[in-house]
Amino acid sequence: MEKYKIKSITEGLTKIEFPEFEKVSSQAPVFYNPHMELNRDLSILAIQVFQKQENREINICDLFGGSGIRGVRYKNEIEGVGEVSINDISETANHYERHNIELNNLKDIEVYQHDASMFLRMKRGEFDVIDIDPFGTPSPFLDSAGYCARRNSLLCVTATDTSALCGTYEEPCIRKYNSKPYKSEYCHENGIRILAGFVALTLSKYAKYIEVKMSHSTEHYMRLYLEIKKGSKKTDESLKNIGYISHCKNCLHRQTSNGLASPIDDVCPVCGEKLVHAGPLWLGSIQDKEFIQKMIDESANKKINTEKEALKLLNKCLIESDAPATFFDVHSICKSLKISAPKFDLILDELENQGFEAIKTHFNPIGIKTDADIENIKNILMKLNDI
Ligand SMILES: C[S@@+](CC[C@H](N)C(=O)[O-])C[C@H]1O[C@@H](n2cnc3c(N)ncnc32)[C@H](O)[C@@H]1O
Repeated sequence: MEKYKIKSITEGLTKIEFPEFEKVSSQAPVFYNPHMELNRDLSILAIQVFQKQENREINICDLFGGSGIRGVRYKNEIEGVGEVSINDISETANHYERHNIELNNLKDIEVYQHDASMFLRMKRGEFDVIDIDPFGTPSPFLDSAGYCARRNSLLCVTATDTSALCGTYEEPCIRKYNSKPYKSEYCHENGIRILAGFVALTLSKYAKYIEVKMSHSTEHYMRLYLEIKKGSKKTDESLKNIGYISHCKNCLHRQTSNGLASPIDDVCPVCGEKLVHAGPLWLGSIQDKEFIQKMIDESANKKINTEKEALKLLNKCLIESDAPATFFDVHSICKSLKISAPKFDLILDELENQGFEAIKTHFNPIGIKTDADIENIKNILMKLNDI
């Protein structure tokens, strides 16, 4: 391994070294992406909140270790962590994972070289936290995660195949997530719901169900924090959160329908055009207010470099935790009406004046989550344009 020039970085309280590379890519000898620091910092907060909630020592699996930065940081920066297992199929990654464990003087942290699914099955039931941070899609590993996850454990999942989940390309989403996407202005939220729905359906065969604690779509990736619970009756109940979101391309109306095989309206109730459907996907909550508030509180106890950005995101997710599914993009509606967009805050104020909810969303700076329907919103936009 002496052939590589070494780069040193510090995230949180942890120093990490790995071979220097020119461009962030899966072709690098050992993968490290500085843009994922926010993702790792939020993971530290989420896992710490989970550990305090469970009030016991937790064992963590960093399934796709790379430089080992997650596993090493989790052991170094989270209280109440017992054993950490770092796995990676690459021997070079394993070398630097061991090196980084030593560099930070850590004990009770082991390195493994297995295919991710094989590793989970070998260690079934041993982990309280499983972190899945692969190249691209997590889909091929979710069945093993579902089979091996303990009851009352935390599953952290990253997906970087956002073009599939958002519906830029329909077929890969159908192939990987068995769900039809739709490229609407709220497609990033739909993507998170497709991923959560796929996890819920995958786990259900093991009588396990999910509670979404926090989720976000940032830059090129989506990330979910899911608590895994067990019980066939409760799993049946939880699957009632699976359904479809139907969208009218003509007037921008949208509606949700719960149930896998329930009848879905094909005609827009507002303008009579044909509706397009996305799903199956998760229609349940995708943010847990109490959990996110605890992540915000926990940030005061941690040293994280992305604190400002993390708090901004967490506060947005906190506010949108009670909001309905999907959001309206003000510019898209104004474009369809051929009018100019009023000031964003004026629209929020007018919605509230008329007795509607008006909630900003982290998915889009000009997105509004509201219980107003498309006609109410159009009327408000016209009124603010003096039309
Ligand atoms: C995106 S990187 C992990 C990044 C790391 N978690 C971080 O935060 O920097 C994905 C890693 O998965 C490893 N990998 C790819 N396929 C694998 C498989 N089937 N089983 C285990 N590891 C795999 C690669 O060698 C690579 O190091």
